[in-house]
Amino acid sequence: MSTIKLPKNSIDFFKSNQNKIFESGNLAEGPWNEQLSKKIKTICNVKNAICVNSNGSGLVALLLIYKEYYGRTDVMIQSNTMYGVKTITKTAGYNLVDFIDCQLKTLMPSFDDLKKAVDNYKGKVKQLVVLLSDIGGIINPDIEKIAKFCKEKNIILLEDAAHSFGSTLNKKFSGTFGNAGVYSYYSTKAIFAGEGGIVVTDDNNIGNLMKDFIAYDRFKQKMEIGCNIRLPEIQALMIYSVVKEYKEIIKNKFKIAEKYSETCNSCNIKYISQNENSNIGNYYKFTIISSNKNVSDFLPKIKTTTSKVYDYSLGNSKEIPNKHLCLPIWFELEENISDKVIKEIKESLGV
Ligand SMILES: Cc1ncc(COP(=O)(O)O)c(C=O)c1O
Repeated sequence: MSTIKLPKNSIDFFKSNQNKIFESGNLAEGPWNEQLSKKIKTICNVKNAICVNSNGSGLVALLLIYKEYYGRTDVMIQSNTMYGVKTITKTAGYNLVDFIDCQLKTLMPSFDDLKKAVDNYKGKVKQLVVLLSDIGGIINPDIEKIAKFCKEKNIILLEDAAHSFGSTLNKKFSGTFGNAGVYSYYSTKAIFAGEGGIVVTDDNNIGNLMKDFIAYDRFKQKMEIGCNIRLPEIQALMIYSVVKEYKEIIKNKFKIAEKYSETCNSCNIKYISQNENSNIGNYYKFTIISSNKNVSDFLPKIKTTTSKVYDYSLGNSKEIPNKHLCLPIWFELEENISDKVIKEIKESLGV
């Protein structure tokens, strides 16, 4: 395997602007935070975009704000998500009341899974937050129905869009379906810049609280909660440099995915398509699904893989870790790697 790459335009843009940061002396709370926020608002068509130093810090801050100002104390997350999503909830002082089941075909909860969890919930819905993660690059296909249901029931819906920056469902961007969402630009993500996150919301009250939270509310001094979870200027420039090329990154990943899809289609292998029913992902992961056998028995000769989406389950969805695998897919993946993968798939099936 070789190094993970960024578009040349991103690197050139970063290099040609970094000196200005040092010359201006604005190492924090400066114009790149502003510019990045504006860029995200324009791309994602959202009213508020607040830069933070990680997806996790943004989610903790949102949970704390909903606890402090909206009386929320209980939270549900999905079975198939990053372990840290669980620690995020406790860190924010919530009762983690359930892990929502997930479907193998999407790796996410369906509307029915969500409804079942809410129906079983013994507390008061006005105290509940549902925190759902988009997994693997696509938006949860049922998110519109889930968002409508949560709104009707007065449940706060937070979209953990760590994996899904740039993805759309019916032309609407990830992160914008619930009350608020958070992107991640951590190194392993589809659109990555090392570290950083952005909180997005159309709710101006939440947006304003978040803007004050990230600086301890040290100017207005009205809030009882807050912390420094700001994004340094140099990192804001880094993320800006990458985000401005996000379409090129996704386009390149689609080309690699096309090669894998052709092989999967011709060999009758199920995979999670990221261009189906108006759901266009960013191919964070190219995921093969094996519904019957464990995937290691189905495709025993595949050795050239990247890590599974998760090799554990937080709740009941125990079959998911053993029944999927992920093929290498990153910006400008070398042809010899994808060729090797395809050879291994064919060898596994004896074709
Ligand atoms: C589903 C999910 N949520 C949240 C995060 C946290 O992102 P960050 O590292 O930016 O805090 C990650 C990844 O690291 C993730 O995979």
